Amino acid sequence: MKVGVCYYPEHWPPERWPIDARLMREAGLSLVRVAEFAWQRMEPEEGEFTWEWLDQAIEILAAEGLRVILGTPTATPPAWLCKAYPDILPVDTQGRRRRFGSRRHYCSTSAVYRRHTERIVTAMAQRYGHHPAIMGWQIDNEFGCHDTARCYCDECAASFRRWLKTKYGTLEALNEAWGAVFWSQAYGDWKEIGLPHLTVTEPNPSHVLDYYRFSSDTVVEYQQLQISHLTSRISHSQLITTNFMGIFTDLDYHALARPLDFVTWDSYPTGHAERSAETLYAPSDARPTLAYDAGDPYVTGFCHDLIRGLKPHQPFWVMEQQCGNINWASYNTGVRPGTVRLWTWHALASGAEAVVYFRWRATLFAQEQHHSGMLHHDGTPDVGYADALAMRAERALMDEIAVAPLTPQVALLLDYHDLWALQLQPHRKDFSYLRHLFVFYQALQRLGLPVAIVSPESDLSAYKLVITPTAFLADAALAASLTAYAQTGGTVLLGVRSGFKTLTNTVTDQPLPGPFRPLVGATVANWHALPPGIGYDFESSIPGLAGPATIWAESLQLPISNLRPLAHYTSGPFASLAALTENQVGRGRALYLGWYPTVAQAEALLTHLAARVGINPIARLTPGLIDAQRGAHIILLNFTDAPLTATIQGQQHLVAARDVKVIGG
Ligand code: GAL
Ligand code: ZN
Repeated sequence: MKVGVCYYPEHWPPERWPIDARLMREAGLSLVRVAEFAWQRMEPEEGEFTWEWLDQAIEILAAEGLRVILGTPTATPPAWLCKAYPDILPVDTQGRRRRFGSRRHYCSTSAVYRRHTERIVTAMAQRYGHHPAIMGWQIDNEFGCHDTARCYCDECAASFRRWLKTKYGTLEALNEAWGAVFWSQAYGDWKEIGLPHLTVTEPNPSHVLDYYRFSSDTVVEYQQLQISHLTSRISHSQLITTNFMGIFTDLDYHALARPLDFVTWDSYPTGHAERSAETLYAPSDARPTLAYDAGDPYVTGFCHDLIRGLKPHQPFWVMEQQCGNINWASYNTGVRPGTVRLWTWHALASGAEAVVYFRWRATLFAQEQHHSGMLHHDGTPDVGYADALAMRAERALMDEIAVAPLTPQVALLLDYHDLWALQLQPHRKDFSYLRHLFVFYQALQRLGLPVAIVSPESDLSAYKLVITPTAFLADAALAASLTAYAQTGGTVLLGVRSGFKTLTNTVTDQPLPGPFRPLVGATVANWHALPPGIGYDFESSIPGLAGPATIWAESLQLPISNLRPLAHYTSGPFASLAALTENQVGRGRALYLGWYPTVAQAEALLTHLAARVGINPIARLTPGLIDAQRGAHIILLNFTDAPLTATIQGQQHLVAARDVKVIGG
């Protein structure tokens, strides 16, 4: 288990650097991330490089045995660059050019910006690519953050047209794919195609989905430019990554992760807990009473699992771990002793092999002056430093766990294109792809069933159960791979609205669920979005699975009327039709769940399915208590302010408030 910190030597006088480096070593840190916003200090004028300060900072850190991750500073193009080349600045949806003065103010399509990116990345790689203290590189910083994944400048428009030409070949194909005959939207010349913004009412959803894909591809390409310039110059032992965010959905994270050596993310539990009210929870979800400063372990855990799933067969890092109060939420809760330790253990339990705290010392100036660090503004230890010191006693156990494998037997499929398509046309307010996934995630967590959140394209053979809440955009290839998985013994659970659309975001002309119909062995006869307060009752043979179906309901017809479904509607317009079906497929099976479940309904269904496919839960858990398994170690984490008990194989284990307990190993 490696522990580190994000450090900004450029914010402090050089005389302080040796003291900082010593304090870092004394707290048991071994990693330091530096320089990701320091372009201006590295290149104060075009072509004038000033490396001496960075050389010196790296030497001082290395002298204390610390290893360095260097950030490429492209999230912060300096003032001189923006003044000389104003076209590198991005344009927002309102068509306004964004200005210099914060960060992420660049368009990743811009040829000029790419040229300058190449220059600075090459210069850094030449200088530090073989430096023994540098263990790796972080490219840029939080791609897409602050709403910057999509730009509406003219250069992006031209690039989008090229992207479309490559994709569709001819305008006829594009018009056909987009259904452009609707509202006279057909194009007769490529130049007529613009970016989908500033339209009177909603633009064509196929147009927008392609623009989202193009934008994501552009960032992936921009990242690749940096990777290529680094890999051709740095030594093989230096690794390349970038820092992802947790619940961020404007980029296809699977594509962004693919070329990296490993993935990392930035974990701010108190901030994410606040945001999750809009993004993950439904207003009706029961929420446990949690420790007020610990964040929400279901939300943080969902992010850990999502990020781990970007490269499911290797460990990830937390590149920025909150270690005190943050500054960008509504309440920016103060953090008590012990909570940073709890977060660190949660990351480790979820598969992290390194946790890097953000940031070393609270800054005296500028935008983040209210954000905490491991040290207070005055340089004395704050709560994060104290927790790091306290954790020194358990580092040997952490090291042991850090190399133990995680072997979840359930996979939850995540596809960003499905997410975007549903975001564009949710049809029912609050029908959100991520929220739908999170219903299943909460249920799995409460049942003590570890899960991998992975792309539908990943290898599913290691899982006994695959859940795909809404496989919205589907083609024959996806249906074939899920069918092959079921045939060899896997169990697939498909949810509502699966198979509804083609990959170009138009509706399938086949009976639903489109290409999944042979797999499911049933036909969706009808679907209803249900307003608040309305539910269709159903009966099920599964213990504890009780109605009504709310939010969204679909009726299913079985090919032979005397086949018995696992649930059928008993009231409303779908009465007597099937609500949940199961189809034997080779050595496995496929189920279709015909409504959008509550967490309690998902729990009942997953309890049944886990027993059916032979998955043993670690322990059924009281809300607020989290469990995880790495190798022979079971890790229990209590995110509440009261002691809680878990029963594992008949034995009771008491976990104190905001505490961690490791069993076995
Ligand atoms: C992250 C960012 C850091 C810092 C931090 C504050 O999103 O990468 O640079 O701004 O938030 O919480
Ligand atoms: Zn642009």
